[in-house]
Amino acid sequence: MGWKIPSFALFCIFFAYYIYLPIPENIEERWKVGLITILTKFASLMNVLLENVGIMRYGQLFRIILAMDLTKPISDENLTVIDTDFSDIPVRLYLPTRKSERRRPAIIFIHGGAMTQGSCKLSSYDSLSRWTAKKLDAVVLGVDFRQAPQYLFPVPLEDCVFAVKFFLQDKILMKYGVDPTRICITGDSSGGLLATSVVYLLQNDPEFKDKIKAQALIYPVLQVFDTLVPSHQEYANGPFLTREMAIKLFCLSLTMDEALPQAMLRNQHMPEESRHLFKYVNWSVYLPEKYKKYHVYTEPTLGNLKSLHPLLVDSRLSPLVLNDSQLQTLPLTYILTCEHDLVRDDGLIYATRLQNVGVQVTHDHLEDGFHAAISLTGPPMYIQFGFKIRDKYICWLEENL
Ligand SMILES: *[C@@H]1O[C@H](CO)[C@@H](O)[C@H](O)[C@H]1NC(C)=O
Ligand SMILES: *[C@@H]1O[C@H](CO)[C@@H](O)[C@H](O)[C@H]1NC(C)=O
Ligand SMILES: *[C@@H]1O[C@H](CO)[C@@H](O)[C@H](O)[C@H]1NC(C)=O
Repeated sequence: MGWKIPSFALFCIFFAYYIYLPIPENIEERWKVGLITILTKFASLMNVLLENVGIMRYGQLFRIILAMDLTKPISDENLTVIDTDFSDIPVRLYLPTRKSERRRPAIIFIHGGAMTQGSCKLSSYDSLSRWTAKKLDAVVLGVDFRQAPQYLFPVPLEDCVFAVKFFLQDKILMKYGVDPTRICITGDSSGGLLATSVVYLLQNDPEFKDKIKAQALIYPVLQVFDTLVPSHQEYANGPFLTREMAIKLFCLSLTMDEALPQAMLRNQHMPEESRHLFKYVNWSVYLPEKYKKYHVYTEPTLGNLKSLHPLLVDSRLSPLVLNDSQLQTLPLTYILTCEHDLVRDDGLIYATRLQNVGVQVTHDHLEDGFHAAISLTGPPMYIQFGFKIRDKYICWLEENL
């Protein structure tokens, strides 16, 4: 009998911890978002437990769960869907079946998941791509780049660059009936980071300059320099994505070294040599007043992760530290940010910086939004808000591509 009371107490503590969730009042379908947050936190906790007993590394359990959600390429009367390789990189193509008078626009989609999780073949991304192709009468290309833990950054980025360059060849665009003047690269979360880095690299490659008409970034991650910007502090506990989960997963794309996530959680990971770039991610300069609130700017503490120096200062990983003349090379841009999102400020700062150097930017900020919502638009959980994001993004593409 003696164990019942302590175990009940433990259960209550555990339960109370998971029930206490800061789901903001203005979020629609709060109970669903709460439930998803609990399940995600629980899966993250299981990841930690499994790692501690030495069964699998952090992130592996998420991969196993997500693998169950992969879809086959299914064509229907309006859309031919095929899996193929571009330059040895697996891709999925969505080709409208109807004969067209003129060549079609193309959208190259790069999925999120911290460069360690997910695929363009997940049911939510597959249905987003189908929807995009049908709604815009466009060719959609999903890139299934290689990821951590087997392939660390910059492999995911390089795979995207190779696949995109392959697609941009005249003969390939001709084969799929793509209009070379109407090509857009898009991505969500870390996919937004990859998308904008691909666009930047192409813009600075004489052979590919101006081949991309536009970029669209959905709640993008854009820097690793400062992990205590106001949104990191305000939304450290979610909804959905917590700061610890985000940092642990993202670090896996860079190194197996446990010291990095530990240092990054304390914002003490950037090397001395990166200090001259801090000014580009200085939120006290670039964040609109209303988001600064009570926060006081403090510079990230310099760290001492010698072996990781070149990676951490790489602007391909932190496009937010590109200087003004570099940013100026970017094309027409769409940025969508969500209020209840720890990477909110990356998008807000990027929007300001791009506007300051004269890049044409449309910025949608959704006050009732949270990170990863577009991935919650497939079975078993439909979050209406995910469709709201989708529709805003599609609407911009419709008007601008
Ligand atoms: C194909 O397009 C037609 C016309 O827009 C529509 O009525 C039909 O439902 C579509 N079929 C599928 C499978 O989406
Ligand atoms: C950040 O901006 C503030 C002014 O808003 C300034 O005092 C501070 O020196 C800046 N720090 C860096 C690293 O740019
Ligand atoms: C931006 O960076 C590039 C590459 O490092 C450099 O060549 C250029 O002079 C810099 N421009 C400005 C305005 O700082």
